[in-house]
This record gives sequence, structure tokens and C-alpha cells, in this order.
Amino acid sequence: MAFSWGNPLNWFRSYRHLTAFVWDTTNKKREEWAQRQAQRLGSREFAFFRDDLPDEFSFVVMGDTGEGDSSQMVAVDKFLREGADTEFSVIASDVIYPSGRSHEYREKFYVPYRNYPKDIYAVPGNHDWYDELTGFMIHFCDNTFHRLDPNQQTVDPEKLKMLRMIRSNRFFQPNMYFYIDTKFVRLVFVDTGIKGRIGDSQREWLLRVSDDADDKPKILISGKPIFANGQFDERLRDVNDIVNRFNYRLVVAGDTHNFQKYRIPASTNGKRKIVWHLVNGGGGAYLSRTHIIPEAKDMRFPPDLGIRLTGEPDDFDCYPSREVSRKQYGSWLLERLPDAFADHDQPPYHKSFVKVYIRAAGILVQVFGIRHFGEESYNAGPISEWEIPFQDM
Ligand SMILES: [Fe+2]
Repeated sequence: MAFSWGNPLNWFRSYRHLTAFVWDTTNKKREEWAQRQAQRLGSREFAFFRDDLPDEFSFVVMGDTGEGDSSQMVAVDKFLREGADTEFSVIASDVIYPSGRSHEYREKFYVPYRNYPKDIYAVPGNHDWYDELTGFMIHFCDNTFHRLDPNQQTVDPEKLKMLRMIRSNRFFQPNMYFYIDTKFVRLVFVDTGIKGRIGDSQREWLLRVSDDADDKPKILISGKPIFANGQFDERLRDVNDIVNRFNYRLVVAGDTHNFQKYRIPASTNGKRKIVWHLVNGGGGAYLSRTHIIPEAKDMRFPPDLGIRLTGEPDDFDCYPSREVSRKQYGSWLLERLPDAFADHDQPPYHKSFVKVYIRAAGILVQVFGIRHFGEESYNAGPISEWEIPFQDM
């Protein structure tokens, strides 16, 4: 059955979304999980050692995948094709709708990606937090015990074994926030919780791992984007400051269910640079409308950031286009309801994901769009690609 936000049960299961408006305990719970992981691993560094990675490699990032219906499945064949030469893939935001629960991982994670032979890592979206991140910690961090009680199992080991017969990682990530050091870049993964806040201890950690001695170029992979729908998210100003201060060149996040690209001028130690900010939430859930996004020249950001965008598609681009998005919504009622009600489980789907190549000279980003099951989308080249040279500082 197609996953639908028209089903009131799905809203009921996400009730923490509503309680978080009043009392958001995510920072506290994240810290409890992090302490547990630090105890298990004997370190709070949360460095993920993938020393087996070649110097040059690629990986796929998908966002907001976990509906378990055709809008998720339509992207899988293309993911397998583009993922064939990757070293790993990442799901950034909302692995499982509506509420991240462990028993839904079979239909919405293990089975859809069973033919991808490499590891899949993840950062949580708000929906993964609606079960206090328990499902996420089992399946991505291999922590099968309760956050507050290391003797209480949260999953039947036999059931987990059966799931991992469908697919399994070779290595499990050390935490919901962590980093991977590679020859040419450092990949930093952050958790923005339910409300787009990283919390004090994760911020301290992010500052520390961003300030490496050799000042390597960095990529940030996040649940929520700093720039989306032509606006700057003030809740993530602390993260943006760190991105600008250190050698970050690319930020990839989910949460908004389409693709958006922002070419943001910034500076590191007085040197001008460009940071590419991507919204990459088109991996499976309903389509968030792009026709509400203002033209690049009309976008207004906080004055102290000094950002003025001008041309499209160089400074800003989106998928699907505003025209296609307007057509897809296309009715008086849908235009007035939240995006979730426009869940579209028939073609054209307008799904997307990105593939990132790490090379000695820089980063290459490719964006793939998927409209249909079948060969047209399967064989299509990237809808957008560009290079981010390392020496361009
Ligand atoms: Fe989402």
C-alpha cells in the first residue's frame, strides 16, 4: 500500500513532531546516545576509519527515502546503476517514515537497497527521531540496547540477523554524527535533530573536527539544509559559521523533498571562497514544491551574510523546475494544503539524488533526476554537474 500522509495514523505515529514544538528534548537524548556510543567504542572522537578507501573515489547521497512505496522504489534502479562504482552511499535525512521505527526497516531500507553491495551510512532526519532514534541506532550504529539502560535490548538478535541476511554493512558508523578522513577531503556528518539544532556538545565536536592541522577541504552532510527555498535557516547559523570559517566547500542536506543548488560566496581566514549548498531530499518521499522558491535575484538573506545571488542556473538551480512543480500540484486544493498531501505515487515522480566524486584536483558533483520506472530515466545522464576545484581559493 502506498505510504500516505492522508492517513491520520501516520500523523499519530509522528506525535513527537507536535510535542517538539513545545518541548524539544532532542539535544539531551542525542547526548545520551553519544555517551553510550563513546562508552562502547572507548572514544568520543567519532572518527570512522575507512582506511581501505582509495585516494580517489565516489559516493552517492540520497535524502528522505523511507516511504517504502513506489516513490521510493522508482529511484532504486538508477541508484544501483550510478552506485555501481561507488565506495559507499549515504542517506541524509528521514530513512524511515513516519517515525523511524526499527520494525519498518525491512520494507523501507533493507529490501529496497538489497542489491547495493557496499555500505550505506546515514544521518537522521526529524522522522528518525520520532522513536527517540532507537531504530537508527540499531541499524546504522549497531547499538541494540536502550539509550538509558545498556542491559535492555531494543531488538531481537535473531530478527536482526535475518534482516542483515537481506543486506548488511561491513562497517558500522560510530555515532549519528561522525567523520571520515580520506586522502583529499574530510567528510563530516552532522545530526540536526527534529528542529534543526545541533546542540552544545555536537557543536563543540564539530568545531574540533573542522579545525584539522592540514586544513583539508571538507564536505558537510547534514539532515537539514542551511539554505532552502531561497531562505537562510537562522537555527543553523552556528553550523554556517563553522562552514565558512573552516575549509568546507560543499554542504549536502535533505529534509526538503527536491533538489536545490546554491552558490554561496563566503570567506575562510579572509580568503574568498565558494560554498555549494545543496538541498537533496528527492530520494523517495513526496515532492516538496519548487514553485514557491523566488528567483535567485529576488532571494533575500540576512544582510550580515553579504550574499546576493544573480543568475540562474549558475547561482541557483532546482529540480524539478518551478513550471513542472506548479503543474504537478496543479489544483486549487493541493496548492493550499501542506506538501505532504501532494504525495504522488505515479509517474512522473521527479526524484533525484547526487553522486560526489573525490579527486586529487577537486570534487565533481553530479545530480540525477528520475521521472519514471524504465529505461529513459535509467539511461539518462546527469541533469546537472559541476566541479569544485580545490585550488580555487
Ligand atoms: Fe523528509
